[in-house]
Amino acid sequence: MVPGSRPDPAAASASGYEVTVCTDEAAQDRALTAELAAGLQSVPKDLPPKLFYDDEGSRLFGEITRLEEYYLTRSEHEILTRAAPEIVALSGAGTLVELGSGLSQKTRLLLDALAAAEALEGFVPFDVNESALRATASAAAAAYPGASVHGVVGEFGSDLPSIPRAPRRLVALLGGTIGNFSGPERQKFLAEIAGLCEPGETFLLGADLVKDRDRLLAAYDDPHGVTAAFNRNILRVINRRLEADFDPKKFAHVATYDDEMQWIEMWLRSEEAQEVYLRRLALSVSFAPGEAVRTEISAKFHPAQVSDELTAAGFSVLAQWLDGAGDFSLTLARRADGSPS
Ligand code: SAH
Ligand code: AVI
Repeated sequence: MVPGSRPDPAAASASGYEVTVCTDEAAQDRALTAELAAGLQSVPKDLPPKLFYDDEGSRLFGEITRLEEYYLTRSEHEILTRAAPEIVALSGAGTLVELGSGLSQKTRLLLDALAAAEALEGFVPFDVNESALRATASAAAAAYPGASVHGVVGEFGSDLPSIPRAPRRLVALLGGTIGNFSGPERQKFLAEIAGLCEPGETFLLGADLVKDRDRLLAAYDDPHGVTAAFNRNILRVINRRLEADFDPKKFAHVATYDDEMQWIEMWLRSEEAQEVYLRRLALSVSFAPGEAVRTEISAKFHPAQVSDELTAAGFSVLAQWLDGAGDFSLTLARRADGSPS
């Protein structure tokens, strides 16, 4: 067992799966104090997007994935439907590790392909949201009774070393989550994933592609207001966890696309001059009318750029697939021998 982590043997024996909690909410809240104090005092103000995903945020993200405007999930699903058997064959994997697994709906396509190839030995979902993680682990244990299911509740930034070793792992980061990291953070994260893999193990990366600006903006500013509700929910999460008094109604959802950076930015714009107090930080934060706090970036890629970034991180690219419309990419890479870790 990894020091500092907490296994849940009751879950293991009763339900056929095991969960290791590396970072529970109390530990996360301690780390958040410094992160938020820095983000809310920077110019422009900035909030960490991992805060979107409490239970309500995870539910709203699920709603986003079903919106007509949010093509990402459908496009990745299309690729997986077609390519999962090939991904399984090329990877030679027996255990699937999924980073930022959420509710793992598309993951079933990979698990089914592993099972069909009689290769499925284990599934390791990894996510910061404990209830989504437990739901995923429980559903996978029921659906694949022969597989060992070991969920890990943890943060990308600190808990990747707690992922259990297993023979022949395929690590997956789906959904375009890699886009939620800025360039330098992304290189660091990809290199950490390469470091987590043994030589010969494989990594499957889903990345959203650069496309028409209006389609990108519609995906992040839907007319039904679901993305706006997802964005504002971050303020409710901060209110609950850091005893703050943000009034979400006083902030407008704004999505912009930066051509040069190739990324969507989501902001919450203060509708009036206001002061917010965060009791756990003993910090007052003033907002000028129209001042916005950035809550997320979502970078978009060219297919060759994804391959180059994986190579720079210590992987050799094995194959790349796009959906029929060329909207989204999946890239399979193998951890190169002797790569930096
Ligand atoms: N893979 C799923 C979900 C993507 S949503 C899909 O493709 O649809 C992003 C997921 O990453 C959420 O479940 C969220 O809880 C998780 N996540 C976000 N930031 C994280 C962090 N810093 N550490 C661990 N998990 C994180
Ligand atoms: C999880 N991540 C890939 C989503 C994205 O598209 O960047 C989060 C999201 N933000 C707004 N809508 C969806």
